[in-house]
Amino acid sequence: MPPGPTQWPLLGCLPQLALYGRKDILSYLKQLAGRYGPIFTLKFGDFRAVFISDYQLLKEAFVKQGDCFSMRPDIYSITVAHGNPKNKAIVMGHGHEWQVFRRFAVSKLKDMGVGKRALEGRIQDEISALKSELMQHCDRSYDPCQLTHKAVTNIIAHLIFGERYDYHSESMRRLMESIHGITSSLAILDMRSMIKVMQKLPLNGQYKKMISCQVFFTSLVQNQIERHRASFEPTEMRDLIDLCFKKRTDEDSESHHFTDDTMCQLIGDLFIAGSVTTATTLTWSWLYMAAHRDAQAKCRAEIKRVCGDKIPTVADRPNLPYTDATLCEIQRCATISPLAVMHSTAHDTVLAGYRIPKDTWVIPMLYHIHDDPSHFERPTEFRPERFLNAEGGFVKRESFIPYGIGPRACAGESLARMELFLFFSALMQSFSFSTQDPDRSPDLSSVLGFTQRSKSQGLRIQCL
Ligand code: HEM
Repeated sequence: MPPGPTQWPLLGCLPQLALYGRKDILSYLKQLAGRYGPIFTLKFGDFRAVFISDYQLLKEAFVKQGDCFSMRPDIYSITVAHGNPKNKAIVMGHGHEWQVFRRFAVSKLKDMGVGKRALEGRIQDEISALKSELMQHCDRSYDPCQLTHKAVTNIIAHLIFGERYDYHSESMRRLMESIHGITSSLAILDMRSMIKVMQKLPLNGQYKKMISCQVFFTSLVQNQIERHRASFEPTEMRDLIDLCFKKRTDEDSESHHFTDDTMCQLIGDLFIAGSVTTATTLTWSWLYMAAHRDAQAKCRAEIKRVCGDKIPTVADRPNLPYTDATLCEIQRCATISPLAVMHSTAHDTVLAGYRIPKDTWVIPMLYHIHDDPSHFERPTEFRPERFLNAEGGFVKRESFIPYGIGPRACAGESLARMELFLFFSALMQSFSFSTQDPDRSPDLSSVLGFTQRSKSQGLRIQCL
């Protein structure tokens, strides 16, 4: 196995984690990478995990040996957050069923207009609603996090449920509360997930809250499934739930997978994975733009020059390289999914000369790769120019991997890229973001849960 810190009987490395990693687990893991190299092992109670912090090595594992490294382990906290341990759908699924659901989701998102005009129009309508609401909060201290989250949630609600929620409605409030309850307390590396015997102890308040939010969310999805069943017309596909019902009637070898339970899980996966991540990234965007006013001004100037007062479209993207580069730099610096979602090995294998046994947890340190000076020169600096060539054109960087790599990479990347670009460019065009006190930078420190999110804080938003 790859090297790693001392392992204590029964507890493995938990004492060190408790001592050094409790406050800031990501910094502690970075220190371990510095000490033991790009691949190291930590034993957590009953499980062992291999961490990978080097891009080439990650590529070797997740791409070249993708079949072996693309399993998902059964992690207690995620299983609880996920609801039904039997139906794993996409995020926690594996094997044939995972492939069926993943293929279905990716192809249907495309059919429903991801990357195309029809969905673009719908996103722009939501942006208009967001802009009208933001205008009510201009010129005073306001935290746009909740509102951003509501707007992004409405896009996924449109795709899956075929409807949007009013920002001030009780339904939106309860939906937000349940998503927040499921994701904010979700820590992958918690004690109960690492020490099996602890799973028999009574649940603490955090888990109880997560379960009650999960129960509420599942009942909401079940209601939507019933509503769709009652009004289903095979010739008129309104949204993803209709497409699931249609898939059931297909005479192919995959249709039997689409039971009510698995549909519920699939919808939950897409809803949660698709709303929290994008909203968290956009919330970071407002903060990074308040911290880097020069980059903000350059984005705005570029958008005004190319689009004038017309709301930016996906077709404008190739002409907005600085704006595109700024979004990438925000995603690199914030790395909202710093450890992605845990993988595990399907069988014994060898990586970098080390033996990795079957069922080892494998954790990619995406945030460390984004901070690697051999890929990103002066990584602590915020420099959108690193994504531009000498002529000012946008350049892709192979080691920029906010969506992961290999067969398990994000299933919603195209949708995420479309939403991020449209929301970000439209808001840069219409508003300026700064701190209340111009001499103080916003707080860019993070809180780790399901995603790495920013701390709640007010910004000064000016309408242009
Ligand atoms: C900025 C936005 C987003 C980021 C940064 C992001 C990032 C990620 C990452 C890092 C993973 C795990 C990859 C791995 O396990 O190695 C993932 C998985 C996933 N994401 Fe995203 N994501 C975003 C938006 C979305 C959206 C909009 C959707 C869907 C509508 C989505 C659906 C999924 C699904 C279903 C998986 C599980 C894939 C699988 O296990 O096969 N994500 N995402």
